[in-house]
Amino acid sequence: MTDPGQRLRSSLAADSAAGAAPEFDSPIAMEALRATRVLHAADQEPFPAPGRIRVITVANQKGGVGKTTSTVNLGVALALYGLRALVIDLDPQGNTSTALGVEHTVGTPSIYDALVGDSSLADVVHPTTASPNLRCVPATIDLAGAEIELVSVVAREYRLRRAIEGYVHALPEEQRPHYVLIDCPPSLGLLTLNALVAGDEVLIPIQCEYYALEGLGQLLNNIELVRAHLNPGIAVRTILLTMYDARTKLADQVAEEVRSHFGDLVLGTVIPRNVRVSEAPGYGQSVLTYDPGSRGSTSYVEAARELAERGVHLVPESDPRPMGAPPPPPPATAPMPAVRPATGPVPRAVPGSDAAVAPVPTSVDEETR
Ligand SMILES: Nc1ncnc2c1ncn2[C@@H]1O[C@H](COP(=O)(O)OP(=O)(O)OP(=O)(O)O)[C@@H](O)[C@H]1O
Ligand SMILES: [Mg+2]
Repeated sequence: MTDPGQRLRSSLAADSAAGAAPEFDSPIAMEALRATRVLHAADQEPFPAPGRIRVITVANQKGGVGKTTSTVNLGVALALYGLRALVIDLDPQGNTSTALGVEHTVGTPSIYDALVGDSSLADVVHPTTASPNLRCVPATIDLAGAEIELVSVVAREYRLRRAIEGYVHALPEEQRPHYVLIDCPPSLGLLTLNALVAGDEVLIPIQCEYYALEGLGQLLNNIELVRAHLNPGIAVRTILLTMYDARTKLADQVAEEVRSHFGDLVLGTVIPRNVRVSEAPGYGQSVLTYDPGSRGSTSYVEAARELAERGVHLVPESDPRPMGAPPPPPPATAPMPAVRPATGPVPRAVPGSDAAVAPVPTSVDEETR
């Protein structure tokens, strides 16, 4: 398991050996240096840009596993390290909007207006204070009614996909986001379905706690149904272990079990349970801006780095939505897949299989063939 601080320590050690950094053998010095690295991210080597826009749906119908926290902090990390990111809050709770300091009181132009109303995404995108590279589409409580209101809307499952495509293609190339991160609510209703149809890939945060895998089979079944009927491009590409508590054996057992099920889809970086992570939203901030030197902050930076590095190899040759291409014609209304409960064990990620759980490429050739 990758120690989130390992890379940073090696890098600092290299600097120190070269006489470029002061001694950092005390915890405070180490934390100060970590904070400096995050705060002055712009001076560091930027994360590599993906060859095409990556639309990542952050989903897990289990509540409180770290979907919002991961969406926010990965989005901020990508933005601080030089990539343009758009975060879409698709949860009526509006926690993502809160954490990014974006207004989401009733009446604020929000994702509801783009999904149910006639607004374009450009009308409801807001800047964030975290970074000029990061923009956010907030969710207001109106979204709670969208599950029902959408039922009678034409092509209801494609509303978000069309909104994103329309937005992206209207922007000049140099302003298009590299990453679109969609934070889902803890349910498998029409909002999550819209996010799965809109996305190219799914990121599943899994909390290192008992019952972590409960309900995961149902989520994977749903992704499989969406892939079969509505969005052939969707696949689980990333699993992120969250709230890891190194003091407990249980956390290790869960992490091991998840790795044995999902193999290389699981990021090497694990997000530790860290009080600064949970405090940050209360100040309308990500942990990277609230306490950049904390373990939570550096872990999310490392997780985002891994995500970005993997993204470089995840560019399929037959890209259905290449950057700069015109939007595809609107799809015919397809029937909504029935939600069926999980019956068997959580499927394993079988490298090379044509399943909703995608294998992680080991080389560019493997992915682009
Ligand atoms: N690494 C962490 N360390 C400590 N607390 C955390 C960490 N990650 C998340 N939390 C806290 O756990 C709670 C749940 O996290 P979060 O809101 O991100 O989960 P979620 O999956 O989005 O929840 P929901 O299903 O309700 O949308 C929050 O109070 C958050 O601050
Ligand atoms: Mg949430």
